[in-house]
Amino acid sequence: MTLAKTEAAGGPGLLPQVLAFSSSLTLDKQLLREDLVGSLAHVTMLGRTGVIPRDAAQTIRQGLIALWERADAGTLALPEEEDVHMAVEVELNRTIGPPAALLHSARSRNDQVATDLRLHVRESAAKALDSVAAFVGELAVRARAEKDVLLPAYTHRQRAQPVSLAYWLASYGAAFLRDAQLLAFVLEQCRLSPLGVGAISGTSLGIDREVTRTLLGFEGATLNGLDTVGDRDFALDYLYATARLLVHASRLSTDLIDFTTAEFGFASLSGDISMGSSMMPQKKNPDVFELIRGKSGRAVGNLVGLLVTVKGLPGGYNRDLQEDRASLLETGPLLHGSLEVLRLALPRVTFHPDRCRAGVDEGFTQATDLAEALVKKGMPFRKAYQVVGSLVRRCQEQGVTLAQATVALGQSVDASLDGPTLAVLEAAGAVARKQSAGSTGPQPVARQLDELDTQAKALAEKSKSVPRLEVVYTRLKEAAL
Ligand code: ARG
Repeated sequence: MTLAKTEAAGGPGLLPQVLAFSSSLTLDKQLLREDLVGSLAHVTMLGRTGVIPRDAAQTIRQGLIALWERADAGTLALPEEEDVHMAVEVELNRTIGPPAALLHSARSRNDQVATDLRLHVRESAAKALDSVAAFVGELAVRARAEKDVLLPAYTHRQRAQPVSLAYWLASYGAAFLRDAQLLAFVLEQCRLSPLGVGAISGTSLGIDREVTRTLLGFEGATLNGLDTVGDRDFALDYLYATARLLVHASRLSTDLIDFTTAEFGFASLSGDISMGSSMMPQKKNPDVFELIRGKSGRAVGNLVGLLVTVKGLPGGYNRDLQEDRASLLETGPLLHGSLEVLRLALPRVTFHPDRCRAGVDEGFTQATDLAEALVKKGMPFRKAYQVVGSLVRRCQEQGVTLAQATVALGQSVDASLDGPTLAVLEAAGAVARKQSAGSTGPQPVARQLDELDTQAKALAEKSKSVPRLEVVYTRLKEAAL
């Protein structure tokens, strides 16, 4: 007899179509390890507090450990049930018999699923935090290696001002650092254990939530059961963090897709990350970056999907919440897959300093630097803006770049445009003169890179301090009753 046919799940009269419609097992299976760990902690607590006899608790523990080991070995086929929680209970009953009936004392699937999901999000967020912190460090290393390459920075996708490639790389470092901080916040939102609040209002049995929360590596127990069973805020935070991180990955990808076009010519991809066309033999496509950009759309969809699921719900548990599973479980592979490929791909992008530099010169990007040189000589900025604007037009008429402007040409525009002033048009010098905090000058960039390194290291430490499922399991397996 399976649980789906018991009173607990609708009774023997439940239509098979309804059972099939309501089952989340196909997706829930991915939460098997979380579910087993949660049950191990719960039954250990039940045994210690005397809510169930110790010997029964011991038998159940051994049964759960055996299930974990079979799952690890790939030999566990879960029975067709409404969800993973029931499937585990049925399988446990099949292997250890009557003591299995004691496991669900003082527990509901409502606090059980809330626990599984927090464990899942904690695991995934810790893994992503580790990876994104490493990526920030890698961006800093790459930036130091590329500090002499100059390229135009763009506003409105028009060439704007000269910057170093290091500065461009550091800009993404700064964005991904914020994502690492956001993942650390997600981990904080997962730090309390839902286990023990039961279906909605707690239990009259003598449980101890401190025991389960300690065994599962949570820092405390949630405050209020009615809130706990309907709360998916930690999941929303995780989905938002993922969506935002992938949006950053998508913008980086778009830059690289553009940079590797023949029109830009700033960079090219190595053969092991570029893809061909089935028809056009000459093609070398940036599919990997297009896919990252494409997948970011799915991450945004997952966030919106869960927001819509929770938005109209009354307080407490509602079965609608089961629909969190698709968005939530898809997010891990999206997040880890995109990060992994991004970290593999970036070192395989080669920048072409000459083409980047040509973009700087052809784009009149040092115009602001020249205006600022006039400001330094005492000219009001608005006047300097006009003078340099006239010089740019004169250069365009004559078909020369700003750096090629002669003193005679400068003098024909304004007496202030003398030789020493025009010398600021040399792009490397223009970049080097930027000393303000957060700017593209070599010293400010060096400080930015040091900051990225320091903060990324601290965040990687945070990730290491998160108890991973495997460790929690080993601890539980060895825990005394
Ligand atoms: N499969 C359910 C879910 O994922 C578990 C909780 C069921 N609770 C209930 N009251 N029917 O949300």
